[in-house]
Amino acid sequence: MNIALIGSGGREHALCKKIHESAKSTKIICIPGNAGTAKIAENIDINYLDFNTLLKTLKFHKINFVIVGPEEPLVKGIIDFLRRKRIKAFGPTKYAAQLEGSKAFMKLICKKRNIPTAGYKLCKNKSDIKKFLKKNNLPLVVKADGLAAGKGVTICKTEKQLLKVANEIFLGKFKTSKKLILEEFIEGEEASYFLIVDKNNYKFFGTAQDHKRVKEKDKGSNTGGMGSYSPAPIINKELEKKILNKIIKPTLLELKKQRNPFTGFLYAGLMIKNNEPYLIEYNVRMGDPECQVIMPRLKTDILNILVKAQKNNLKNILIKWKSIKCMTIVLCSKGYPYKYKKNRIIKNLDKVDNKKKILLFHAGTKMKDGSIFSNGGRVLNVTSTGNIFYNIRKDIIKTLKVINWKYGFFRKDIGWRVIKKK
Ligand code: AMP
Ligand code: GLY
Repeated sequence: MNIALIGSGGREHALCKKIHESAKSTKIICIPGNAGTAKIAENIDINYLDFNTLLKTLKFHKINFVIVGPEEPLVKGIIDFLRRKRIKAFGPTKYAAQLEGSKAFMKLICKKRNIPTAGYKLCKNKSDIKKFLKKNNLPLVVKADGLAAGKGVTICKTEKQLLKVANEIFLGKFKTSKKLILEEFIEGEEASYFLIVDKNNYKFFGTAQDHKRVKEKDKGSNTGGMGSYSPAPIINKELEKKILNKIIKPTLLELKKQRNPFTGFLYAGLMIKNNEPYLIEYNVRMGDPECQVIMPRLKTDILNILVKAQKNNLKNILIKWKSIKCMTIVLCSKGYPYKYKKNRIIKNLDKVDNKKKILLFHAGTKMKDGSIFSNGGRVLNVTSTGNIFYNIRKDIIKTLKVINWKYGFFRKDIGWRVIKKK
């Protein structure tokens, strides 16, 4: 099969590696890919949001199957477009992708089906905010309604801060929507729960815990994710039952009722409080950097799974997992998630590439004149597997010291929850 993989992050390199290992794959193109995918696939640098140009590329390369990594093309309807053009693709329709693309859409489903989530109000102006403030105590969470590239959520401790952040959204800071969701702050432990879903069935696709804050001890600004590990021990069998019965099944049923069944990867961002799950957000794709710790644990051929899912035949596949644990630490450009410089040379990767057990997933990297340069905020995902998280982290940090990238930084405390408990 000729495969096209859309995206350029660490998630896509991790997916690309698995696809490359599949007996079913003959050729892979990555659009646009990174310096890591370039080694196992052909990178094609076009704008994948320009669907007509994309279509020409897919036809030229005789692509049989398209796999989409990031949310933006999904929310903009890439799957509907490819289906109309009779190209097989895996992911949610534009309608179903609203689970991630519109917080208001997701919250309405929660309301209809009584799904546990933070109490909220959809706000269009200052008076809406004042009404919610009268009945609820700070801190409160402001969320831009539409896609905001991971920058749409602010936890507000004061009314002044809240009004400032809200006003920016009302004035159009995010092009996708001028509305916002104001919601209660839930104190708890975060975990990510993944599924692969077709029109008839769903299958478990791993658990993970991410570290969103830029600084150690979970301090500082929110980022796309500074590191993660899988599995997430907090999700025990009892909790999983609650997640499925109270959150996942009602969501999938509601979308079916709306004649738009969900298909694709479904990622539930959860807050766990007193052994009860609350839905914080839905994503309609794999997580990044969660994908990087889930892929190395997957035993079953990924293309077998995806092809079956695309044919709505997930029922007939057994997805097997390795019993090992996996962790990744993200090496970022100095300054991330704010201003940072690109185009900084990264040396020493050849000293790491052939080390046993260490998996180097590239994110914001590119090849130039035979060398590797940074090309984004999150640059590399140094990943490893084993039986004890403490030892896995030690291996990763040792490797990061070998890479010794002077333009970068990383968090040394990834996995503190599981490592403290040991
Ligand atoms: P989101 O983009 O919705 O995942 O939000 C980004 C981060 O903000 C989450 O990963 C949480 O750490 C935090 N967050 C979002 N909503 C809430 C909430 N209602 N209570 C507490 N923390 C939240
Ligand atoms: N790691 C968070 C996300 O992928 O949205």
